[in-house]
Amino acid sequence: MNSQINSYAPNGDATPTYDTKILPVDGARLGTLLLNKDSEFVLEDWEIELKDNQSVKNLQLAAEQLRGSKVPVAFPTETVYGLGADATRSEAVRGIYEAKQRPSDNPLIVHFASLRQLTDLLRSSSAHSSDEKPMDVIPAIYKPLIQKFWPGPLTIILPIAEKSPLAPEVTAGLSTFGARMPRNLLALLLIKLANVPIAAPSANASTKPSPTAAEHVKDDLNGRINYILDGGPCDVGVESTVVDGLSDPPAILRPGGISIEQLRTCPGWENVIVGYKDASEGSANGAAPRAPGMKYRHYSPAATVVLYESGLAAPGWKDVIKHGGDRVGFVRTTNWKENCGLADAGIAESKDETPKIKPVVLHSANGIVTTSNILNTLQSIVPKPTPKATHTTVHNPLTDQKTEVFDINLGGNTEDIARGLFSALRELDRKNVSAIFVEGIDDNEGDVAAAVMNRLRKAAEVMIQ
Ligand code: TXA
Ligand code: MG
Repeated sequence: MNSQINSYAPNGDATPTYDTKILPVDGARLGTLLLNKDSEFVLEDWEIELKDNQSVKNLQLAAEQLRGSKVPVAFPTETVYGLGADATRSEAVRGIYEAKQRPSDNPLIVHFASLRQLTDLLRSSSAHSSDEKPMDVIPAIYKPLIQKFWPGPLTIILPIAEKSPLAPEVTAGLSTFGARMPRNLLALLLIKLANVPIAAPSANASTKPSPTAAEHVKDDLNGRINYILDGGPCDVGVESTVVDGLSDPPAILRPGGISIEQLRTCPGWENVIVGYKDASEGSANGAAPRAPGMKYRHYSPAATVVLYESGLAAPGWKDVIKHGGDRVGFVRTTNWKENCGLADAGIAESKDETPKIKPVVLHSANGIVTTSNILNTLQSIVPKPTPKATHTTVHNPLTDQKTEVFDINLGGNTEDIARGLFSALRELDRKNVSAIFVEGIDDNEGDVAAAVMNRLRKAAEVMIQ
Protein backbone atom coordinates (compact mmCIF):
# COMPACT_ATOMS: atom_id res chain seq x y z
CA MET A 1 0.00 0.00 0.00
CA ASN A 2 2.69 2.46 1.00
CA SER A 3 4.45 2.11 -2.33
CA GLN A 4 1.88 4.60 -3.63
CA ILE A 5 2.56 7.20 -0.95
CA ASN A 6 3.74 10.35 -2.58
CA SER A 7 7.18 11.63 -3.34
CA TYR A 8 6.35 14.91 -1.59
CA ALA A 9 6.42 13.41 1.89
CA PRO A 10 9.12 15.30 3.79
CA ASN A 11 11.84 12.59 3.57
CA GLY A 12 9.18 10.13 4.71
CA ASP A 13 9.64 11.80 8.08
CA ALA A 14 6.62 11.79 10.38
CA THR A 15 8.23 13.94 13.10
CA PRO A 16 5.82 16.68 14.23
CA THR A 17 6.93 20.12 13.11
CA TYR A 18 4.12 22.53 13.97
CA ASP A 19 2.18 23.40 17.07
CA THR A 20 -1.31 22.52 15.81
CA LYS A 21 -4.05 24.77 17.20
CA ILE A 22 -7.81 24.24 17.06
CA LEU A 23 -9.47 27.64 16.48
CA PRO A 24 -13.20 27.72 17.34
CA VAL A 25 -15.51 29.60 14.98
CA ASP A 26 -19.21 30.16 15.62
CA GLY A 27 -20.82 30.26 12.17
CA ALA A 28 -23.84 32.14 13.52
CA ARG A 29 -21.73 35.09 14.77
CA LEU A 30 -19.74 36.04 11.71
CA GLY A 31 -21.76 38.91 10.30
CA THR A 32 -24.49 40.00 7.95
CA LEU A 33 -24.60 38.67 4.42
CA LEU A 34 -25.31 41.21 1.71
CA LEU A 35 -26.65 39.66 -1.47
CA ASN A 36 -27.67 40.90 -4.85
CA LYS A 37 -31.29 39.79 -5.01
CA ASP A 38 -31.46 40.27 -8.78
CA SER A 39 -28.74 37.82 -9.71
CA GLU A 40 -29.50 34.61 -11.56
CA PHE A 41 -27.95 32.47 -8.84
CA VAL A 42 -28.20 33.23 -5.15
CA LEU A 43 -24.45 33.20 -4.46
CA GLU A 44 -23.41 34.77 -7.76
CA ASP A 45 -21.62 37.45 -5.81
CA TRP A 46 -21.93 38.54 -2.18
CA GLU A 47 -20.41 40.66 0.53
CA ILE A 48 -20.49 40.42 4.29
CA GLU A 49 -20.44 43.01 7.05
CA LEU A 50 -18.10 41.33 9.50
CA LYS A 51 -18.66 41.44 13.24
CA ASP A 52 -15.77 42.08 15.58
CA ASN A 53 -15.27 38.97 17.68
CA GLN A 54 -12.91 36.05 18.21
CA SER A 55 -14.66 33.87 15.62
CA VAL A 56 -14.01 36.45 12.93
CA LYS A 57 -10.42 36.96 14.13
CA ASN A 58 -9.79 33.23 13.93
CA LEU A 59 -11.14 33.13 10.39
CA GLN A 60 -8.95 36.07 9.40
CA LEU A 61 -5.89 34.40 10.83
CA ALA A 62 -6.59 31.25 8.82
CA ALA A 63 -7.31 33.26 5.66
CA GLU A 64 -3.99 35.08 6.03
CA GLN A 65 -2.21 31.74 6.29
CA LEU A 66 -3.99 30.51 3.16
CA ARG A 67 -2.87 33.57 1.21
CA GLY A 68 0.78 33.55 2.16
CA SER A 69 1.95 30.26 3.61
CA LYS A 70 2.74 26.84 2.24
CA VAL A 71 1.19 25.14 5.25
CA PRO A 72 -2.45 24.18 4.59
CA VAL A 73 -5.38 25.03 6.89
CA ALA A 74 -8.11 22.59 7.97
CA PHE A 75 -11.69 23.87 7.89
CA PRO A 76 -15.21 22.45 8.10
CA THR A 77 -17.56 22.07 5.16
CA GLU A 78 -21.07 20.62 5.26
CA THR A 79 -19.68 17.26 4.06
CA VAL A 80 -16.37 16.62 5.85
CA TYR A 81 -13.43 18.71 7.07
CA GLY A 82 -11.16 19.85 4.25
CA LEU A 83 -7.42 20.60 4.17
CA GLY A 84 -7.20 23.81 2.17
CA ALA A 85 -4.52 25.66 0.22
CA ASP A 86 -4.38 28.44 -2.37
CA ALA A 87 -5.17 26.55 -5.60
CA THR A 88 -3.09 28.98 -7.67
CA ARG A 89 0.23 28.45 -5.84
CA SER A 90 2.12 25.22 -6.48
CA GLU A 91 4.08 25.47 -3.28
CA ALA A 92 0.88 25.77 -1.23
CA VAL A 93 -0.79 22.84 -3.00
CA ARG A 94 2.27 20.65 -2.47
CA GLY A 95 1.86 21.45 1.23
CA ILE A 96 -1.44 19.51 1.19
CA TYR A 97 0.19 16.40 -0.23
CA GLU A 98 2.95 16.68 2.34
CA ALA A 99 0.63 17.06 5.32
CA LYS A 100 -1.67 14.22 4.21
CA GLN A 101 1.05 12.01 2.78
CA ARG A 102 -1.28 11.61 -0.14
CA PRO A 103 -0.36 10.23 -3.56
CA SER A 104 0.31 13.18 -5.84
CA ASP A 105 -1.51 11.63 -8.82
CA ASN A 106 -4.84 12.09 -7.05
CA PRO A 107 -6.50 15.38 -8.11
CA LEU A 108 -8.00 17.84 -5.62
CA ILE A 109 -11.37 19.60 -5.61
CA VAL A 110 -11.25 23.41 -5.91
CA HIS A 111 -13.65 25.30 -3.62
CA PHE A 112 -15.25 28.63 -4.53
CA ALA A 113 -17.14 31.20 -2.45
CA SER A 114 -19.22 32.62 -5.28
CA LEU A 115 -20.11 31.92 -8.88
CA ARG A 116 -18.25 35.10 -9.81
CA GLN A 117 -15.04 33.74 -8.34
CA LEU A 118 -15.38 30.57 -10.41
CA THR A 119 -16.23 32.34 -13.64
CA ASP A 120 -13.40 34.85 -13.16
CA LEU A 121 -11.05 31.90 -13.05
CA LEU A 122 -12.60 30.33 -16.15
CA ARG A 123 -12.55 33.67 -17.98
CA SER A 124 -8.96 34.44 -17.13
CA SER A 125 -7.92 31.30 -18.92
CA SER A 126 -10.05 31.21 -22.05
CA ALA A 127 -11.71 33.16 -24.81
CA HIS A 128 -14.73 34.41 -22.88
CA SER A 129 -15.71 38.05 -23.14
CA SER A 130 -16.31 40.04 -19.98
CA ASP A 131 -19.90 40.99 -20.91
CA GLU A 132 -21.10 37.38 -20.67
CA LYS A 133 -23.22 36.59 -17.61
CA PRO A 134 -21.43 34.37 -15.08
CA MET A 135 -23.70 31.40 -15.75
CA ASP A 136 -22.93 31.58 -19.50
CA VAL A 137 -19.24 30.96 -18.90
CA ILE A 138 -20.04 27.52 -17.46
CA PRO A 139 -20.97 24.57 -19.73
CA ALA A 140 -24.79 24.68 -20.07
CA ILE A 141 -25.23 21.12 -18.79
CA TYR A 142 -24.23 22.26 -15.29
CA LYS A 143 -26.62 25.21 -15.04
CA PRO A 144 -29.58 23.28 -13.55
CA LEU A 145 -27.28 21.53 -11.08
CA ILE A 146 -25.75 24.77 -9.89
CA GLN A 147 -29.19 26.35 -9.52
CA LYS A 148 -30.50 23.42 -7.55
CA PHE A 149 -27.61 22.04 -5.52
CA TRP A 150 -25.11 24.88 -4.95
CA PRO A 151 -24.03 25.78 -2.41
CA GLY A 152 -23.99 22.08 -1.49
CA PRO A 153 -22.36 18.65 -1.67
CA LEU A 154 -21.85 18.48 -5.43
CA THR A 155 -18.56 18.73 -7.37
CA ILE A 156 -18.65 19.39 -11.11
CA ILE A 157 -15.84 18.56 -13.53
CA LEU A 158 -14.81 21.50 -15.73
CA PRO A 159 -12.22 21.81 -18.50
CA ILE A 160 -8.96 23.65 -17.79
CA ALA A 161 -7.68 25.93 -20.49
CA GLU A 162 -4.00 26.32 -21.31
CA LYS A 163 -3.35 29.49 -19.36
CA SER A 164 -5.31 28.56 -16.27
CA PRO A 165 -4.02 30.14 -13.05
CA LEU A 166 -4.63 26.82 -11.26
CA ALA A 167 -1.43 25.18 -10.05
CA PRO A 168 -0.73 22.01 -12.06
CA GLU A 169 -0.45 20.04 -8.78
CA VAL A 170 -4.20 20.55 -8.22
CA THR A 171 -5.20 18.41 -11.15
CA ALA A 172 -2.36 15.91 -11.19
CA GLY A 173 -1.91 16.47 -14.90
CA LEU A 174 -5.56 16.05 -15.98
CA SER A 175 -7.16 18.46 -18.49
CA THR A 176 -10.12 18.95 -16.15
CA PHE A 177 -10.66 20.06 -12.56
CA GLY A 178 -13.35 19.54 -9.93
CA ALA A 179 -15.21 22.64 -8.66
CA ARG A 180 -17.51 22.94 -5.69
CA MET A 181 -19.22 25.57 -3.55
CA PRO A 182 -19.67 24.35 0.05
CA ARG A 183 -22.91 24.93 1.97
CA ASN A 184 -21.20 26.16 5.09
CA LEU A 185 -20.89 29.84 5.89
CA LEU A 186 -17.58 29.42 7.68
CA ALA A 187 -16.05 27.72 4.63
CA LEU A 188 -17.51 30.27 2.21
CA LEU A 189 -16.24 33.17 4.27
CA LEU A 190 -12.79 31.66 4.66
CA ILE A 191 -12.50 31.38 0.86
CA LYS A 192 -13.86 34.88 0.47
CA LEU A 193 -11.36 36.36 2.94
CA ALA A 194 -8.46 34.44 1.41
CA ASN A 195 -9.63 35.81 -1.95
CA VAL A 196 -8.29 32.81 -3.85
CA PRO A 197 -9.89 29.51 -4.91
CA ILE A 198 -9.08 26.87 -2.31
CA ALA A 199 -7.95 23.37 -3.25
CA ALA A 200 -9.01 20.96 -0.52
CA PRO A 201 -9.15 17.21 -0.11
CA SER A 202 -10.64 15.73 3.05
CA ALA A 203 -8.41 16.57 6.04
CA ASN A 204 -7.60 13.00 7.09
CA ALA A 205 -4.28 11.23 6.78
CA SER A 206 -4.34 9.28 3.52
CA THR A 207 -6.34 5.97 3.78
CA LYS A 208 -8.09 6.95 7.06
CA PRO A 209 -11.83 7.70 7.38
CA SER A 210 -12.65 11.31 6.45
CA PRO A 211 -12.84 13.68 9.44
CA THR A 212 -16.26 15.02 10.44
CA ALA A 213 -15.07 16.93 13.53
CA ALA A 214 -12.05 19.12 14.35
CA GLU A 215 -10.70 16.52 16.81
CA HIS A 216 -10.60 13.93 14.02
CA VAL A 217 -8.32 16.24 12.05
CA LYS A 218 -6.12 16.73 15.08
CA ASP A 219 -5.88 12.96 15.60
CA ASP A 220 -4.51 12.55 12.06
CA LEU A 221 -2.57 15.74 11.34
CA ASN A 222 -1.26 16.92 14.71
CA GLY A 223 2.12 18.55 14.16
CA ARG A 224 1.67 18.67 10.39
CA ILE A 225 -0.38 21.88 10.17
CA ASN A 226 -0.80 25.08 12.18
CA TYR A 227 -4.56 25.67 12.27
CA ILE A 228 -7.76 23.66 12.41
CA LEU A 229 -10.87 25.84 12.25
CA ASP A 230 -13.51 24.22 14.45
CA GLY A 231 -17.08 24.78 13.29
CA GLY A 232 -18.52 21.73 15.07
CA PRO A 233 -19.54 18.39 13.56
CA CYS A 234 -20.30 18.22 9.84
CA ASP A 235 -23.90 18.11 8.75
CA VAL A 236 -23.77 15.61 5.85
CA GLY A 237 -20.89 13.37 6.97
CA VAL A 238 -19.92 11.90 3.57
CA GLU A 239 -18.12 13.76 0.80
CA SER A 240 -19.61 15.54 -2.17
CA THR A 241 -20.97 13.74 -5.21
CA VAL A 242 -18.54 14.18 -8.15
CA VAL A 243 -20.22 14.46 -11.57
CA ASP A 244 -18.83 14.67 -15.09
CA GLY A 245 -21.19 16.49 -17.45
CA LEU A 246 -18.53 16.83 -20.14
CA SER A 247 -19.01 13.19 -21.17
CA ASP A 248 -22.09 11.88 -22.97
CA PRO A 249 -24.07 10.56 -21.19
CA PRO A 250 -23.03 12.43 -18.04
CA ALA A 251 -21.60 10.26 -15.28
CA ILE A 252 -21.35 10.13 -11.50
CA LEU A 253 -17.67 9.64 -10.66
CA ARG A 254 -18.16 9.41 -6.90
CA PRO A 255 -21.43 8.98 -4.98
CA GLY A 256 -21.92 11.52 -2.19
CA GLY A 257 -24.29 14.00 -0.59
CA ILE A 258 -26.48 14.40 -3.71
CA SER A 259 -28.10 11.17 -4.95
CA ILE A 260 -28.56 9.82 -8.46
CA GLU A 261 -32.34 10.31 -8.06
CA GLN A 262 -31.83 13.98 -7.23
CA LEU A 263 -29.52 14.44 -10.24
CA ARG A 264 -32.04 12.74 -12.54
CA THR A 265 -34.66 15.40 -11.79
CA CYS A 266 -32.50 17.95 -13.66
CA PRO A 267 -32.78 18.58 -17.42
CA GLY A 268 -29.89 16.86 -19.25
CA TRP A 269 -29.23 14.52 -16.30
CA GLU A 270 -32.17 12.10 -16.74
CA ASN A 271 -29.82 9.39 -18.04
CA VAL A 272 -26.81 10.04 -15.83
CA ILE A 273 -24.78 6.85 -15.47
CA VAL A 274 -22.82 5.41 -12.59
CA GLY A 275 -19.12 5.80 -13.47
CA TYR A 276 -17.68 4.43 -10.24
CA LYS A 277 -17.20 1.05 -8.64
CA ASP A 278 -17.75 0.26 -5.00
CA ALA A 279 -15.09 -2.43 -4.78
CA SER A 280 -11.70 -1.68 -3.24
CA GLU A 281 -8.67 -1.14 -5.43
CA GLY A 282 -7.46 -3.94 -7.62
CA SER A 283 -10.61 -6.03 -7.47
CA ALA A 284 -12.51 -4.37 -10.29
CA ASN A 285 -11.48 -5.95 -13.63
CA GLY A 286 -8.31 -3.88 -13.90
CA ALA A 287 -9.92 -0.92 -15.68
CA ALA A 288 -8.50 2.50 -14.84
CA PRO A 289 -10.89 4.29 -12.48
CA ARG A 290 -12.34 7.54 -13.84
CA ALA A 291 -12.11 9.39 -10.56
CA PRO A 292 -8.49 8.67 -9.74
CA GLY A 293 -9.01 8.93 -5.99
CA MET A 294 -11.23 5.89 -6.06
CA LYS A 295 -8.42 3.43 -6.77
CA TYR A 296 -6.71 3.73 -3.38
CA ARG A 297 -7.67 2.06 -0.16
CA HIS A 298 -9.87 4.53 1.60
CA TYR A 299 -11.86 5.33 4.69
CA SER A 300 -10.18 2.55 6.68
CA PRO A 301 -9.81 2.49 10.44
CA ALA A 302 -7.00 0.37 11.89
CA ALA A 303 -9.47 -2.34 12.97
CA THR A 304 -10.72 -4.91 10.45
CA VAL A 305 -14.07 -3.76 9.08
CA VAL A 306 -16.54 -6.62 8.56
CA LEU A 307 -19.43 -5.33 6.49
CA TYR A 308 -22.78 -7.13 6.43
CA GLU A 309 -24.94 -6.26 3.44
CA SER A 310 -28.38 -4.92 4.29
CA GLY A 311 -30.91 -7.40 5.69
CA LEU A 312 -28.45 -9.99 7.03
CA ALA A 313 -28.64 -11.31 10.57
CA ALA A 314 -26.30 -9.79 13.17
CA PRO A 315 -22.98 -11.53 13.86
CA GLY A 316 -22.97 -14.31 16.43
CA TRP A 317 -20.22 -15.56 18.73
CA LYS A 318 -18.61 -17.64 15.98
CA ASP A 319 -18.23 -14.53 13.81
CA VAL A 320 -16.83 -12.54 16.72
CA ILE A 321 -14.23 -15.24 17.36
CA LYS A 322 -13.37 -15.61 13.66
CA HIS A 323 -12.85 -11.92 12.82
CA GLY A 324 -12.40 -10.16 16.11
CA GLY A 325 -11.45 -11.90 19.31
CA ASP A 326 -11.97 -10.46 22.74
CA ARG A 327 -12.38 -6.77 21.84
CA VAL A 328 -14.91 -5.92 19.15
CA GLY A 329 -17.08 -3.05 17.95
CA PHE A 330 -20.55 -3.00 16.43
CA VAL A 331 -21.97 -0.24 14.25
CA ARG A 332 -25.70 -0.82 14.01
CA THR A 333 -28.23 0.82 11.72
CA THR A 334 -31.75 -0.41 10.99
CA ASN A 335 -32.31 -3.86 12.55
CA TRP A 336 -29.52 -5.23 14.69
CA LYS A 337 -30.22 -5.32 18.42
CA GLU A 338 -28.12 -3.69 21.14
CA ASN A 339 -24.71 -5.42 21.39
CA CYS A 340 -26.04 -7.62 18.57
CA GLY A 341 -27.91 -9.55 21.25
CA LEU A 342 -24.69 -11.07 22.58
CA ALA A 343 -25.01 -9.51 25.99
CA ASP A 344 -28.55 -10.77 26.56
CA ALA A 345 -27.47 -13.95 28.32
CA GLY A 346 -24.09 -13.20 29.82
CA ILE A 347 -23.30 -9.64 30.93
CA ALA A 348 -20.27 -9.66 33.17
CA GLU A 349 -20.38 -5.96 33.87
CA SER A 350 -21.64 -2.95 31.98
CA LYS A 351 -20.30 0.56 31.68
CA ASP A 352 -22.52 2.93 29.80
CA GLU A 353 -20.39 5.69 28.27
CA THR A 354 -23.11 7.22 26.20
CA PRO A 355 -24.12 10.79 26.71
CA LYS A 356 -27.71 10.73 25.45
CA ILE A 357 -28.06 12.25 21.98
CA LYS A 358 -29.39 15.75 22.29
CA PRO A 359 -32.20 16.87 20.00
CA VAL A 360 -31.28 19.14 17.08
CA VAL A 361 -31.27 22.75 18.14
CA LEU A 362 -32.40 25.24 15.56
CA HIS A 363 -31.83 28.90 16.10
CA SER A 364 -32.69 31.82 13.93
CA ALA A 365 -30.22 33.37 11.54
CA ASN A 366 -29.44 36.54 13.49
CA GLY A 367 -29.86 39.71 11.51
CA ILE A 368 -29.08 37.94 8.28
CA VAL A 369 -30.39 39.29 5.01
CA THR A 370 -31.34 36.19 3.08
CA THR A 371 -32.89 35.62 -0.28
CA SER A 372 -33.39 31.90 -0.02
CA ASN A 373 -33.85 29.05 2.39
CA ILE A 374 -30.46 27.73 1.43
CA LEU A 375 -28.86 30.76 3.02
CA ASN A 376 -30.86 30.30 6.18
CA THR A 377 -29.49 26.80 6.49
CA LEU A 378 -25.97 28.11 5.99
CA GLN A 379 -25.89 29.19 9.57
CA SER A 380 -29.05 28.11 11.31
CA ILE A 381 -28.40 24.37 11.59
CA VAL A 382 -26.54 23.10 14.58
CA PRO A 383 -25.63 19.57 13.51
CA LYS A 384 -26.55 16.69 15.76
CA PRO A 385 -23.76 15.35 17.93
CA THR A 386 -22.67 11.91 16.77
CA PRO A 387 -23.54 8.87 18.90
CA LYS A 388 -20.92 7.51 21.28
CA ALA A 389 -20.10 3.87 22.00
CA THR A 390 -21.41 1.95 24.96
CA HIS A 391 -19.01 -0.52 26.56
CA THR A 392 -20.14 -3.87 27.90
CA THR A 393 -18.04 -6.80 29.12
CA VAL A 394 -19.73 -10.00 28.00
CA HIS A 395 -19.05 -13.64 28.78
CA ASN A 396 -18.35 -15.57 25.56
CA PRO A 397 -20.02 -18.99 26.04
CA LEU A 398 -17.91 -20.64 23.29
CA THR A 399 -14.49 -19.73 24.69
CA ASP A 400 -15.50 -19.20 28.31
CA GLN A 401 -13.59 -15.86 28.14
CA LYS A 402 -14.62 -12.27 28.62
CA THR A 403 -15.23 -10.16 25.51
CA GLU A 404 -15.19 -6.37 25.49
CA VAL A 405 -18.04 -5.14 23.30
CA PHE A 406 -18.29 -1.53 22.10
CA ASP A 407 -21.65 -0.77 20.54
CA ILE A 408 -22.73 2.25 18.47
CA ASN A 409 -26.27 2.68 17.23
CA LEU A 410 -26.54 5.06 14.27
CA GLY A 411 -30.31 4.47 14.03
CA GLY A 412 -32.49 3.81 11.02
CA ASN A 413 -32.41 7.23 9.37
CA THR A 414 -30.06 7.35 6.36
CA GLU A 415 -28.98 10.97 6.90
CA ASP A 416 -28.10 10.20 10.53
CA ILE A 417 -26.14 7.12 9.42
CA ALA A 418 -24.13 9.19 6.91
CA ARG A 419 -23.48 11.89 9.49
CA GLY A 420 -22.26 9.45 12.14
CA LEU A 421 -20.48 6.80 10.09
CA PHE A 422 -16.87 8.05 9.90
CA SER A 423 -17.04 9.27 13.45
CA ALA A 424 -18.19 5.82 14.62
CA LEU A 425 -15.31 4.07 12.81
CA ARG A 426 -12.84 6.49 14.38
CA GLU A 427 -14.29 6.15 17.85
CA LEU A 428 -14.10 2.36 17.75
CA ASP A 429 -10.49 2.62 16.61
CA ARG A 430 -9.76 4.69 19.69
CA LYS A 431 -11.21 1.84 21.77
CA ASN A 432 -8.60 -0.44 20.19
CA VAL A 433 -11.07 -3.05 19.00
CA SER A 434 -9.67 -5.64 16.61
CA ALA A 435 -12.76 -5.85 14.41
CA ILE A 436 -15.72 -3.60 13.65
CA PHE A 437 -18.90 -5.35 12.50
CA VAL A 438 -21.09 -2.97 10.50
CA GLU A 439 -24.75 -3.39 9.60
CA GLY A 440 -25.06 -2.22 5.98
CA ILE A 441 -28.10 -0.47 4.54
CA ASP A 442 -30.00 -0.81 1.28
CA ASP A 443 -28.25 1.27 -1.43
CA ASN A 444 -31.61 2.72 -2.44
CA GLU A 445 -32.84 3.56 1.03
CA GLY A 446 -32.43 7.34 0.82
CA ASP A 447 -30.45 10.13 -0.75
CA VAL A 448 -27.07 9.38 0.76
CA ALA A 449 -27.46 5.58 1.05
CA ALA A 450 -25.36 4.82 -2.06
CA ALA A 451 -22.55 7.03 -0.71
CA VAL A 452 -22.69 5.33 2.70
CA MET A 453 -22.42 1.84 1.18
CA ASN A 454 -19.71 2.96 -1.27
CA ARG A 455 -17.53 4.18 1.61
CA LEU A 456 -18.21 1.07 3.68
CA ARG A 457 -17.37 -1.32 0.84
CA LYS A 458 -14.05 0.48 0.38
CA ALA A 459 -13.29 0.41 4.09
CA ALA A 460 -14.26 -3.27 4.51
CA GLU A 461 -11.75 -6.08 4.55
CA VAL A 462 -14.45 -8.72 4.92
CA MET A 463 -17.83 -8.55 3.18
CA ILE A 464 -20.69 -10.78 4.29
CA GLN A 465 -23.23 -11.01 1.47
O1 TXA B 1 -16.97 16.83 0.11
C1 TXA B 1 -15.88 16.88 -0.49
O2 TXA B 1 -15.80 16.79 -1.72
C2 TXA B 1 -14.61 17.07 0.36
C3 TXA B 1 -14.70 18.44 1.03
C4 TXA B 1 -13.44 18.80 1.76
O3 TXA B 1 -15.05 19.42 0.08
N1 TXA B 1 -13.44 16.98 -0.46
C5 TXA B 1 -13.00 15.77 -0.92
O4 TXA B 1 -11.85 15.85 -1.66
O5 TXA B 1 -13.57 14.72 -0.71
P1 TXA B 1 -10.97 14.58 -2.01
O6 TXA B 1 -9.71 15.14 -2.57
O7 TXA B 1 -10.82 13.70 -0.82
O8 TXA B 1 -11.72 13.86 -3.16
C6 TXA B 1 -11.72 14.36 -4.47
C7 TXA B 1 -12.40 13.41 -5.41
C8 TXA B 1 -11.52 12.22 -5.72
O9 TXA B 1 -12.30 11.06 -5.87
C9 TXA B 1 -10.88 12.68 -7.03
O10 TXA B 1 -10.37 11.63 -7.76
C10 TXA B 1 -12.04 13.38 -7.70
O11 TXA B 1 -12.68 14.06 -6.65
N2 TXA B 1 -11.59 14.37 -8.70
C11 TXA B 1 -11.01 15.56 -8.46
N3 TXA B 1 -10.70 16.17 -9.64
C12 TXA B 1 -11.11 15.35 -10.61
C13 TXA B 1 -11.06 15.40 -12.04
N4 TXA B 1 -10.53 16.43 -12.70
N5 TXA B 1 -11.58 14.36 -12.72
C14 TXA B 1 -12.12 13.29 -12.07
N6 TXA B 1 -12.18 13.20 -10.74
C15 TXA B 1 -11.68 14.19 -10.01
MG1 MG C 1 -10.77 12.04 0.76
